[in-house]
Amino acid sequence: MQAYAVRRLALTAFRSYPALTFAVDARPVFLVGENGAGKTNILEAISLLSPGRGLRGTALVESARRLPGETEPLTPWAVAATIEGPDGAFDIGTGLSPQPDGRLTERRAAHINGVAAPASTALSETCRLVWLTPAMDRLFLESPGGRRRFLDRLTLAFEPGHGRVAATYERATRERMKLLKDGGDRDWIDAIEAQMAASGVALANARARTAERLKADLAPLTGAFPQGLIAITGNFEETRTPGDEGEARFRETLGRRRRADLEAGRSLYGPHTADLAVTHVGRGRPAAECSTGEQKALLIGLVLAAARAQARSDAGAAPLLLLDEIAAHLDAPRRAALFDEIAAIGAQAWMTGTDAALFAGMGERGQGFYVTNGALNPI
Ligand SMILES: Nc1ncnc2c1ncn2[C@@H]1O[C@H](COP(=O)(O)OP(=O)(O)O)[C@@H](O)[C@H]1O
Ligand SMILES: [Mg+2]
Repeated sequence: MQAYAVRRLALTAFRSYPALTFAVDARPVFLVGENGAGKTNILEAISLLSPGRGLRGTALVESARRLPGETEPLTPWAVAATIEGPDGAFDIGTGLSPQPDGRLTERRAAHINGVAAPASTALSETCRLVWLTPAMDRLFLESPGGRRRFLDRLTLAFEPGHGRVAATYERATRERMKLLKDGGDRDWIDAIEAQMAASGVALANARARTAERLKADLAPLTGAFPQGLIAITGNFEETRTPGDEGEARFRETLGRRRRADLEAGRSLYGPHTADLAVTHVGRGRPAAECSTGEQKALLIGLVLAAARAQARSDAGAAPLLLLDEIAAHLDAPRRAALFDEIAAIGAQAWMTGTDAALFAGMGERGQGFYVTNGALNPI
């Protein structure tokens, strides 16, 4: 199956780029340039072709190009791409959508093949991508939120409907708390809890399916990346049962916990408490106790497993992989193994680094560009 591959990318008023258009073939891409050259900005632009805030996780207005000294962005940014996928090539575009008075807010627009579509749902249904950035090096050490987002990002790459389910669950959870605080109508609380139960059970089970899929693909091809054993922990046992039975149990639990949740000021039970627990099989230790390098290798292993699982699934195709500063962390044998795995999966990986020599092992399997002065030049 044709892996997802960017063939053309155009950035307008996006961070350091006033305007940039370039074409690539379907092979993996490596971007080489000094610090601050604009490599990560390109990966970020691609990451915004999926729902959410992209790989920097900043507010969407932050990505609008500002000149030095300016505090207000002047023009909305836009990213457009032609992407090949399992169902053929498509044009996809997204950008900030100004308010009627011209102000830039977090509102964004998207279009697929020239037709306007809601960014939150249409993007996940069209383009599949997964990223790994240096900021994620501390993923196993920090709070569960980051690990949950990582798990949800992987899940979204398998199940495009996941984003919508997660949003429904979040909204219902917030609404229930507000109703509890305001002493809201009982029927209304019942109805909101029914929504929470339906979306919560769907959410928990979609994540569990991701864990299952990864399990099947976690044994690495080369042994260069450690095997991780993953489990999803948290306070949501009742929602693990799929279908009506799980929903009924979750509803019952929510009804019973109203007072406790009100006193705590937040919902204490449900899949929003989930955490991704990863164990380094070779070391027999939780990821957080492993060395920085081992943690990075575990993460790479998880992302490769997800890509492999997708490439192998029936209707699936390898997702775009955005691997920022990936080569710097790895010794030469592991770098070689990474390139081999990417080639074996057939994914178009976008990698960045400060030195072209880091990517010498790619040979003809990849295409490289120097990023200088806001332009891309083939290596
Ligand atoms: N909103 C913005 N408007 C203009 N320039 C920006 C904006 N945000 C970041 N930059 C610039 O982008 C550059 C960083 O680009 P980046 O892609 O992170 O570099 P690297 O090649 O090191 O990955 C910096 O020079 C920074 O000043
Ligand atoms: Mg960078």
